[in-house]
Amino acid sequence: MKTILITGASGDVASHLRRELAGKYNLRLSDIRPLVPVKGEKFARADISKMADALRITKGVDAIVHLGGYSVEGPWEGILSANIIGCYNVFEAARRNKVKRILFATSNHAVGFYPRRKTIDHRVYIKPDGRYGVSKVFGEALGSMYADKYGMQVFLMRIGNVNPAPIDKRRLSIWFSPRDLAQLVTIGIEHPDIRFEIVYGVSKNKRSWYDNSNARRLGYRPQDDSEIYARAVLAKEGRGNPVGDLYQGGAFTHVEAVPNPAPLPKAGAKTRRAKKAAGNPTKTAVKKAKKK
Ligand SMILES: NC(=O)c1ccc[n+]([C@@H]2O[C@H](COP(=O)([O-])OP(=O)(O)OC[C@H]3O[C@@H](n4cnc5c(N)ncnc54)[C@H](O)[C@@H]3O)[C@@H](O)[C@H]2O)c1
Repeated sequence: MKTILITGASGDVASHLRRELAGKYNLRLSDIRPLVPVKGEKFARADISKMADALRITKGVDAIVHLGGYSVEGPWEGILSANIIGCYNVFEAARRNKVKRILFATSNHAVGFYPRRKTIDHRVYIKPDGRYGVSKVFGEALGSMYADKYGMQVFLMRIGNVNPAPIDKRRLSIWFSPRDLAQLVTIGIEHPDIRFEIVYGVSKNKRSWYDNSNARRLGYRPQDDSEIYARAVLAKEGRGNPVGDLYQGGAFTHVEAVPNPAPLPKAGAKTRRAKKAAGNPTKTAVKKAKKK
């Protein structure tokens, strides 16, 4: 059985992925926040903005699913530390530890300034909608360089929104169900011919803004379509924003910050929230996703 490192394991996306991949891989989990591993998992606490930590957690694994980082628009310091320095450290530590394959969670916000009326594929030029989006583009560029220069196998997933169900109008177009997430990640881990690939991490949504033919070429056959939730979601939709409604990135195109769903713990502190999160990842994931 392959050993897979998941960074950002205490976060939202990982809580779904851990459940979906349980029993299929030996899961090595890592995060700066605490987590209680279940059977088949091992946890190592680490701050990826420190190279020594990145080297420690990437040792002896077959592939890395790199989810750890600052996951919304916010202050540059947090983004710089986790998504620029941290992302570099994970790629570089993987190279030094001879881990060949990395799956990186990039984002729809790397291309968020494309208008909603346009369908985009994996070849479009980047159009980040904020500093967070820029940091994801940096991760994509790192992936490209490590693939070309060092022969690493890099699978970039421009994730829409992972959630048990879509939560608003924008997310109807970018929804990514947990089981479709697991299918795409499994392709990223198992496909024999990955060199450098960009795919969209979305379900087969009728309202999709993406031509995801590259994922399809690699065997991705998503099961879920947000359309069955559309009526209920649209009935609850609040007033829009003239800028946000134009672009695929929504509010990220005009706000300076979105509440961070995974605030970093103060040095050495184990918060009550973090302890609770460790105990029930799925429930916490749903609650946090509503804030995004
Ligand atoms: N949730 C989504 O739908 C979505 C959409 C697009 C992209 N993504 C990307 O997927 C990844 C996971 O997203 P998420 O929603 O689970 O985010 P999240 O904020 O819930 O989880 C991110 C995790 O990274 C950890 N982390 C932050 N800084 C760290 C550091 N310096 N060292 C170690 N760990 C650190 C946090 O503690 C947190 O547990 C992120 O990279 C995010 O940008 C998520």
